[in-house]
Amino acid sequence: MAELKVLFKDIDVPGIQTLEVYEQHGGYSALRKALGMTRQQVIDEVKASGLRGRGGAGFPAWIKWNGIPKDESQPHYVQCNADEGEPGTFKDRELMLRHPHQLIEGIIIAGYATLSKVGYIYIRGEYTEPARVMRRAIDEAYRAGYLGKNILGSGVDFDLYIHMGAGSYECGEESAMMSSIMGERGQPRLKFPHAPLPTIAGLWNCPTLINNVETLSCVPAIIRNGGAWYASMGTEKSTGTKIFSVSGHVNKPGNYEVEMGTPLMELLELAGGVKGKLKAVIPGGSSVPILPADKCDVNLDYESLQAAGTMLGSGGFMVLNDTVCIVKFMRRTAAFYAHESCGKCTPCREGTRWMVKIFDRILAGGGRMEDIDLLLDICDQIDGRSYCALGDAAAWPIRASIKHFRHEYEYFIKHGHSMVEAQAEHSVGGR
Ligand SMILES: Cc1cc2nc3c(=O)[nH]c(=O)nc-3n(C[C@H](O)[C@H](O)[C@H](O)COP(=O)(O)O)c2cc1C
Ligand code: SF4
Repeated sequence: MAELKVLFKDIDVPGIQTLEVYEQHGGYSALRKALGMTRQQVIDEVKASGLRGRGGAGFPAWIKWNGIPKDESQPHYVQCNADEGEPGTFKDRELMLRHPHQLIEGIIIAGYATLSKVGYIYIRGEYTEPARVMRRAIDEAYRAGYLGKNILGSGVDFDLYIHMGAGSYECGEESAMMSSIMGERGQPRLKFPHAPLPTIAGLWNCPTLINNVETLSCVPAIIRNGGAWYASMGTEKSTGTKIFSVSGHVNKPGNYEVEMGTPLMELLELAGGVKGKLKAVIPGGSSVPILPADKCDVNLDYESLQAAGTMLGSGGFMVLNDTVCIVKFMRRTAAFYAHESCGKCTPCREGTRWMVKIFDRILAGGGRMEDIDLLLDICDQIDGRSYCALGDAAAWPIRASIKHFRHEYEYFIKHGHSMVEAQAEHSVGGR
């Protein structure tokens, strides 16, 4: 059991944030190689790698890249999603803070392959330090001729800008992010098939490639070593490695890069083991269904986690031990989505707030047994009926928590207090 480092391979090298040290470790050799390839060859290499988007949905990267029109009748853009608002996720922060040139190199290669001359990195507002590091690295890359006009004498131009968010989770949703970059209110746009894909009509209605920080950071290693090399790691459909941000009740919280398909329990061991008795894991950020301990014998890849009733999501891996009251935990989760709901559509705007009110009633000791089915009913009214996936994300965790921990809800309603806290008091009193 060990980490398998592709993105983090050189992350501990002193000074790797600087261009000089990055170049000493092969930095920008992938860009040089890519510029000697045709654009289609670069896209084909990404296809061969099997790389899937690491922002949450796991969409094959090459399909987006290939979907950008191959003519230059309009400007094309690259939009790097560094909003990282998903609770429990902090990997993009580390990739920017400690390995900025790897990301910049990946973005320039993506720009070359998609005929884009301009890229934006949309960084969440709270990430002031990663933004500072990225700015410094971008300046270095400009001075060395990796950015700007006629990159390395190739005739290729590419400019890269940082756009800071202002603390909105919804602005991590790719179409709300486009609105935000364009100076509009950060709300989502109508989606395909009711509207064109961003690859056809994205920023300023021009073709736009949108990828997450981790996705784009994978690109230099893929071009340097070949797509087949990357695809030789992981499983057939979930290739390569994945960074999991492990938090909660473990002895060594942090970011761990492991091969896709690694058993969940091995990741827990890497993170120093569970503090106390394992109760549940939320493997992909707060939006994905909770996995109770008896279902944790599962591998960490897209397919295995889906078969287990949850998702890989963004890799925000939250560990809960048996001191956690699920009802209180889910109230906190529901409050997050209610707060972040942008208000554009009724099921999410109203439904998330109703859920919080019902949780508050239960927590105040005034719950009714019907409240459990009422919560489920609201989940059904939000899920699949909302304008964007934030609504679905608000419903899934609550529904899964009732499926797996209904007895805790029933106990809370019947007794007016938490089952877990009552058990803890009982065990202290019994000593
Ligand atoms: C409410 C909401 C918030 C999101 N937040 C993020 C985020 O912070 N970072 C991210 O990369 N993707 C986020 N996504 C997913 C993006 O919409 C998009 O799928 C992703 O940036 C595409 O990149 P990828 O294909 O490389 O994964 C979010 C989606 C939703 C619905
Ligand atoms: S689901 Fe609707 S209200 Fe909720 S964030 Fe998306 S557009 Fe806004």
